[in-house]
Amino acid sequence: MQETAGSYAASARETSLHYALQALKGRSLIEPEDFSLGEMEELFLLAEKIEKDEKYLRESCRGKLLATLFFEPSTRTRLSFEAAMLRLGGSFLGFADPGSSSSSKGESLADTIRMAASYADTIVMRNPKEGAALLASRYSSVPVINAGDGGHHHPTQTLTDLLTIKRLLGKTDSLTVGFCGDLKFGRTVHSLAKALARYNDIKMIFISPSELVLPEYIKSILKRQNVDFSERENLEKSMPEFDVLYMTRVQKERFFNEEDYIRLKDTYVLNTDKMSAGKEKLIVLHPLPRVNEISVEVDSDPRAVYFAQAKYGMYVRMALLASILGVV
Ligand code: CP
Repeated sequence: MQETAGSYAASARETSLHYALQALKGRSLIEPEDFSLGEMEELFLLAEKIEKDEKYLRESCRGKLLATLFFEPSTRTRLSFEAAMLRLGGSFLGFADPGSSSSSKGESLADTIRMAASYADTIVMRNPKEGAALLASRYSSVPVINAGDGGHHHPTQTLTDLLTIKRLLGKTDSLTVGFCGDLKFGRTVHSLAKALARYNDIKMIFISPSELVLPEYIKSILKRQNVDFSERENLEKSMPEFDVLYMTRVQKERFFNEEDYIRLKDTYVLNTDKMSAGKEKLIVLHPLPRVNEISVEVDSDPRAVYFAQAKYGMYVRMALLASILGVV
């Protein structure tokens, strides 16, 4: 085949893409900041390539094993990681219910991780305790991917969210992003706010009841990085300002008493009335699962992109696994 300037540029681009992603080989992902903005950008490019060409990297993980250790319930994160590994030609093993693992007999997390690391090439773990993923990475001889540690962080959801914004709005800077709901316990909010703080010209508007405001430590990080942010209680009045609205459910599993949960759970319900005040190019994200905070009538609005968002999650997890396992 004759080489043209275009094909040479494409091939040079591919080489540099692979070169940047090779730096991720063997690395753990505990918080979004573990990867540089450049590394995340390369992951998004790879995810887009995989999305557009179903055959790309199809058999690249043949013979590789992923351990999925879920000490808390999950639909999207666990299934998308397992689908990602299968689509790359690899296999997975693990548990979705800690009651079926020896942790229910008192085995420590450190010992469980040592075992999983001796069977698998990488570990994805969700655990209710903040800091559990970091601890796991210290006992593991293979990379650990944090699939959510209590109310702390959920970095692969952040990769999913950023990829969705990039693919649908064509940029990840110069945006007004609204976060609404349980900002105290919502780990996806903590991770995304910290990640977005690294981009240029991002304005953040945090909308929650006073009992569920963003933790002080996240606000301190935003202040240190000179992020333009405000805290409000009213969703309706803020609707016209958003380029991105990130809805979240009230995290029932993190409440100490049910009365408080019942009182706060339906504070915000995004419905078609509220959507009518939003920009034409607004996108509504939600990490899911959704409970009542978005009416099902909103699902048919083209600006409601949360199901597409969940699918982008599979592509970015394919890109992540292929990079961490060093097959790109
Ligand atoms: N977004 C998310 O973490 O969903 P799951 O709890 O279903 O994994």
